[in-house]
Amino acid sequence: MDSLSVSTTDVRIERHANQLSRQLKLLRDKLFPPLSQKTLRTFTSGEAAQMIGVSDGYLRQLSLDGKGPSPDVSATGRRSYTLAQINELRQHMAKLKPKDALAYLPWRRPGEKLQTIAVTNFKGGSAKTTTTLYLAQYLALNGYRVLAVDLDPQASLSSMLGLQPEFDLAEGDTLYGAIRYDENRKPLREIIRKTYIDGLDLVAGNLELMEFEHETPRALSDRRHSSGEMFFNRVGVAINEVESDYDVVVIDCPPQLGYLTLGAVCAATSLLITIHPQMVDVASMSQFLLMTADLLSVVRNAGGDLRHDFIKYVVTRHEPFDAPQSQIVALLRSLFGEDVLTATILKSTAIADAGLTKQTLYEIERGQVRRSTYDRALESVNAANGEVLAGLHKAWGRT
Ligand SMILES: Nc1ncnc2c1ncn2[C@@H]1O[C@H](COP(=O)(O)OP(=O)(O)OP(=O)(O)O)[C@@H](O)[C@H]1O
Ligand SMILES: [Mg+2]
Repeated sequence: MDSLSVSTTDVRIERHANQLSRQLKLLRDKLFPPLSQKTLRTFTSGEAAQMIGVSDGYLRQLSLDGKGPSPDVSATGRRSYTLAQINELRQHMAKLKPKDALAYLPWRRPGEKLQTIAVTNFKGGSAKTTTTLYLAQYLALNGYRVLAVDLDPQASLSSMLGLQPEFDLAEGDTLYGAIRYDENRKPLREIIRKTYIDGLDLVAGNLELMEFEHETPRALSDRRHSSGEMFFNRVGVAINEVESDYDVVVIDCPPQLGYLTLGAVCAATSLLITIHPQMVDVASMSQFLLMTADLLSVVRNAGGDLRHDFIKYVVTRHEPFDAPQSQIVALLRSLFGEDVLTATILKSTAIADAGLTKQTLYEIERGQVRRSTYDRALESVNAANGEVLAGLHKAWGRT
């Protein structure tokens, strides 16, 4: 009789875990040798000029005059810029033209408070992570200082941003490290890491985040003895530590309404609720919304902050030529009105395929995918992100 047949389930599963982990590590070392960090592509001078808001000619003159960062020049004389250089030029232009500074450098000004957007839905697979990622990258490419927070123990956002959460993180390297109840808590600033995208920082996630779900009930029952923050304030308190470093924080929530999600909702200044417009997904929504409202009112009565600048539903993986989907979208619009973003994020093989190679449409070059598919998908994402940005501007009192 071999040892397998006598091993109990816990032993067997542990063995599987170790086998898998070893194999994944081997694979990873082969695919991503330790030094091959993910990088963001560079931008042509035309793209850079458009992103900065100047003409290509002006940008060329700056480079000829030796002002600002020097772009990479190819053998044929083509100039290309990194995002860091584009951001440097944004600062340069803002200094040069203080009256139009905001048009070049959109950082928030005194009096404009940090915006925190929680991307959430109880439904698994409703494109929360994709929506978070595209929004965070969109804002960073537009010159905002962005912090992305991965609150999902599955850590798909972290891995889309180039991390291997199973290997790259030590204990306490997730948001859990900053919100835990014991004395090992550390400042959020020590947990935040830069990404390969200038202006976009990350609080990574991994399974460790589950600890918060396990420990919170204990902390609640020990409350008489402890004096720490309530669970629903902890995410917000941690984010406040780095308030001055960012313009926008975007939080990818796990697909349950647990303590982490409730913390994110309380920390948020606005909510983005992703909806996949399919009957099976929408059917349970009314019941779920009631349950959410119930839970949130408990949190509010206990002192949680549930005022939000805006709450928007965003239709994702939308197939506009699918009749049942159209009916659901029409229903949502008639019921929730302006709370549904006008733009929808289209279902697209370009988004799905780019997801497989851990890239977004913002990262790949036009031409790597069929042009019409790429353009249509990117247009829909940009339109949705543009509406969210308009909401942020409104919250800041910008016109
Ligand atoms: N617009 C889209 N077009 C095509 N595929 C998409 C689109 N948006 C998301 N997907 C794909 O759908 C799947 C689920 O998306 P995603 O991981 O963003 O959902 P999620 O809500 O974060 O899931 P979970 O609840 O597991 O965290 C992924 O494989 C993703 O690549
Ligand atoms: Mg997700």
